[in-house]
Amino acid sequence: MNRLTALDVHLTPADAERALREDARAGLTATPKELPPKYFYDARGSELFEEITALPEYYPTRTERALLAESVGAIAEASGADTVVELGSGSSAKTRLLLDAFRAHSTLRRYVPQDVSEAALRGALEALGAEYPDLELHGVVGDFTKDLRFLPKRGRRMIAFLGGTIGNLRPAERAAFLAHVREVLEPGEQLLLGTGLVIDEPTLVAAYDDAQGVTAEFNRNVLHVLNRELGADFVPEDFAHVALWDAENEWIEMRLRAERAMRVRIPELDLEIDFAAGEELRTEISAKFQPVSVRSMLREAGFDLVRWWADADRRFALSLATAV
Ligand code: SAH
Ligand code: TRP
Repeated sequence: MNRLTALDVHLTPADAERALREDARAGLTATPKELPPKYFYDARGSELFEEITALPEYYPTRTERALLAESVGAIAEASGADTVVELGSGSSAKTRLLLDAFRAHSTLRRYVPQDVSEAALRGALEALGAEYPDLELHGVVGDFTKDLRFLPKRGRRMIAFLGGTIGNLRPAERAAFLAHVREVLEPGEQLLLGTGLVIDEPTLVAAYDDAQGVTAEFNRNVLHVLNRELGADFVPEDFAHVALWDAENEWIEMRLRAERAMRVRIPELDLEIDFAAGEELRTEISAKFQPVSVRSMLREAGFDLVRWWADADRRFALSLATAV
């Protein structure tokens, strides 16, 4: 790392392990069984997600990238921030558009990527350090649903939360998350939020169930994580990837369906879990939004919508909001 790069680890491997144990025990003994989505993202999971972003069916990444390309000038001008913080930054691939625009407005001093995946963050910091040698880079390994108080307070900040990742939170978690984001910001600082919009069901389902099976592999990766971290004996190939559209809740739901009855041992939790044939383990939701619901969720959390952008097909939206 160069002299302008720092990495704070607020989620040590020991913390992550403890959280995984608690979440796995609670989730696998619940009815229906479920697991929180952050455990997809070990080094392999982060790589698989990068592959997903390039799939023909996975429209969100390229749609959001095009929206960013179109709007970054206006965002940089309206914002005036000198510090771009990004939550769930992953590979920071699209962020380069933002960084370039903020640099062109000569306001940018530092970029603060935050992610639960230390591997993804290290990779991003290394690449960015080489590409932007004069930019201060301050990585934060942490859980954005818990650790926002660890974000550096320096500078005039804009927090970016892209990729539609807000849709991976359930409604109550989502409201708590946005309130927490608002709490750590000063009035006048901004939030740039990317949200998937409600569109036709076949397009949505295909985005989460691609023909090549990359998403299926990504979904099953969480079982590999449990095997490795907790000594479990899941046979991932015995689980089918399920992606369905829940029209009432307006979210895609990802599940893993046991293809036969089985008993799974998890020695590190001293636990045995039975699956009936066809039983489904819930792994993730990806909520999509109506334009009005984006505005109201921002307002309820204490943000004023400044401007918003959507693509011609209204598949994805970017909202720039100010903390009031
Ligand atoms: N922002 C990128 C990546 C989106 S994928 C993009 O738009 O392409 C979701 C990212 O959020 C992953 O990098 C994952 O590691 C991270 N993530 C998931 N849950 C998280 C949590 N609870 N706290 C912090 N990061 C999380
Ligand atoms: N934030 C991404 C989304 O909701 C995460 C994601 C994409 C995902 N494809 C997935 C999560 C498949 C689980 C399974 O679009």
